[in-house]
Amino acid sequence: LIFLSMLEDDYLVPELEKATVRIRQPERVRGIIRTLREQGVAKLQVVSDFDMTLSRFGCNGRRCPTSHNIFHSSHVVSEDGKKKSVKGDVDSVPFPSAMLQLKDLLHYYYPIEIDPNRTLEEKRPLMVEWWTRAHELLVQQKIRKGDIAQLVRESEAMLRDGFKEFFDQLHKNNVPLFIFSAGIGDVLEEIIRQADVFHSNVKVVSNYMDFNDDGVLMHFKEPLIHTYNKNNTVLQGTQYFQQLSSRTSIILLGDSMGDLTMADGIPKVENILKIGFLNDKGLPPPPHPVLTGLLQVDERRGKYLEAYDIVLESDETLDVVNGILRYIL
Ligand code: C5P
Ligand code: MG
Repeated sequence: LIFLSMLEDDYLVPELEKATVRIRQPERVRGIIRTLREQGVAKLQVVSDFDMTLSRFGCNGRRCPTSHNIFHSSHVVSEDGKKKSVKGDVDSVPFPSAMLQLKDLLHYYYPIEIDPNRTLEEKRPLMVEWWTRAHELLVQQKIRKGDIAQLVRESEAMLRDGFKEFFDQLHKNNVPLFIFSAGIGDVLEEIIRQADVFHSNVKVVSNYMDFNDDGVLMHFKEPLIHTYNKNNTVLQGTQYFQQLSSRTSIILLGDSMGDLTMADGIPKVENILKIGFLNDKGLPPPPHPVLTGLLQVDERRGKYLEAYDIVLESDETLDVVNGILRYIL
């Protein structure tokens, strides 16, 4: 009998044997997963980050865009178009000058965002600065609501492999999925919509654009959500977690140290399993400072292993999450 139950445990979630999986306390993790299953589906809710957690980090050896970055994807604006627009021909291309400047901001601030040697206190004001400047640039470019669907369609943004099973399983079992994102809500909703998985159990809290009557971007709605304030402070007044207070089993998915506080507003947490994607590896050597993240993976690993129960390194799939859900549901 003991032998049988050991066997059952080992095969509890076969995906946990994947080479991408790192776990500091395997026994503890197995215990949490078993408890999540015992507690049942009625008590479960999923809280997830969007960019680089539900969406892919790399594709075809390059970085995939975040919901902010689709506005400077080279697919959208051709080299020819860039030149033309600099001369003032704005009809042919939507947001040319923002392209360069948004990229500059990314190159400057992204290494700061993921730097394991800076404290959150140091990072927070710099993140506010990054988001504020990026949003100002987007507003200057007079982005139109009607352009977003096409931009998303033409971008390389994509959800992680296995996304359909993930979204469909949760929907079928009436498990609420809360997407808590410091990206751009209008864009990420469109990505999910185009993937055909924007089901009724999905709720998004993110930075939303505010358009005027002509559909032109005027500003971003408050509160500003950046990497390091994804906690209850920006959820005041939403009542979302209060309405789900009987759901005390949580699966949290993130890719940043800032994602760890996303479930802080849940009134009663009995069991929580934190799964973190440690991206930034497996891509070609850095041609540009934005990829200094590549060099920091080893330093970041230790912190991730301490903070997340399961760390997925260079894993572009939702296989492990789906395996766990299959076992629980
Ligand atoms: O959905 P999530 O919370 O992950 O979205 C935030 C991510 O978007 C950050 O990790 C950051 O690297 C990225 N970002 C960006 N360009 C900006 C602001 C944030 O790519 N202007
Ligand atoms: Mg993210």
